Amino acid sequence: MQRNPMEKLLELKDLTVSFKNNGQKITVVRQVSLAVEKGEILGLVGESGSGKSVTAKSILGLLNASGKTRVSGKIFLNGKDLLGEKSGQGEKLRSRKLAMIFQDPVDSLNPVFTVGYQIAEVFMAKEKMSKKPAWKKSIEMLKRVEIPSPEWTAKQYPHQLSGGMCQRVMIALALAGTPELLVADEPTTALDVTIQAQIMRLLYDFNEKTGAAILFITHDLGLVAQFCHSMAIMLHGEIIEKGRVEDIFMNPLHPYTRGLLNSIPVPGKKERLRPMAQDLGMDPRSGGCRFFNRCSRKTNQCEWETPNFLEPIPHHFVQCFNMGLSHG
Ligand SMILES: Nc1ncnc2c1ncn2[C@@H]1O[C@H](COP(=O)(O)OP(=O)(O)O)[C@@H](O)[C@H]1O
Ligand SMILES: [Mg+2]
Repeated sequence: MQRNPMEKLLELKDLTVSFKNNGQKITVVRQVSLAVEKGEILGLVGESGSGKSVTAKSILGLLNASGKTRVSGKIFLNGKDLLGEKSGQGEKLRSRKLAMIFQDPVDSLNPVFTVGYQIAEVFMAKEKMSKKPAWKKSIEMLKRVEIPSPEWTAKQYPHQLSGGMCQRVMIALALAGTPELLVADEPTTALDVTIQAQIMRLLYDFNEKTGAAILFITHDLGLVAQFCHSMAIMLHGEIIEKGRVEDIFMNPLHPYTRGLLNSIPVPGKKERLRPMAQDLGMDPRSGGCRFFNRCSRKTNQCEWETPNFLEPIPHHFVQCFNMGLSHG
């Protein structure tokens, strides 16, 4: 499927999420601006706790709206701001255009219905099909995700299937809804390596054949290199670098990105890997660079001043005062 560059499907503008815990406000996603173009696979990478899932949940409308959670900024889907829409409208837009798969496929499915019924239900609700043809479509979807004996599988309950099978069912469910964007939050993290590769190939096919864009959340840079068109790197709730995958891998500009890339093994490279200094966790500063504590290139400015996004190379954005200097 041909990608149409420049057509933004999803656009986050200054997305900020904070939680109140025991009267204390913690901001876990800070001023995130990011766009997913129609038909592209964008990898959102970052260490555990950096705010990837909270970002995904804001897009999907899954954060519990309570006095304790505050979401601000804008989430445009095809130009419509999901947060600005009147109540219910945002949900309608989401249900028509978005699908999601998560790390725990067994728990993501409804335990009390067979997997075949859960897929059939999408056709009954969305296309007003009656039970029989919807069931037939459901089997067809299970075939498309290469489930062996789909007729038998359709009659099983989620807990009777393996994690890999349930993730296939989740993908079939997503396919049934013909979404424009699939949000996949660590979809293969809980699976064995061989199953992981099969699921990634299904997702890749999904993108190629339906043209749906994928926001692929992972901490695995190898998967990003293999499957994504563009990527964004998240650190302590902020995006610090974003651009095309080949540009970032060839020429990482942020010291944090360099550290991440240096810590993945390259076949044939004898040089020892250089692990990064350990993350010190909660960062109480309200401004300043989020990599300050671990950065070997920091200057005084970096402690309190937040760098703006620069575009030193077309389509390659970075948030750093001292980027691009050659260093190990
Ligand atoms: N409902 C919540 N209430 C308070 N803190 C939360 C909540 N959900 C997530 N967090 C915190 O937000 C931060 C980012 O979490 P998350 O987005 O899940 O990270 P990850 O990048 O690993 O997906 C973490 O420090 C987490 O503890
Ligand atoms: Mg997560």
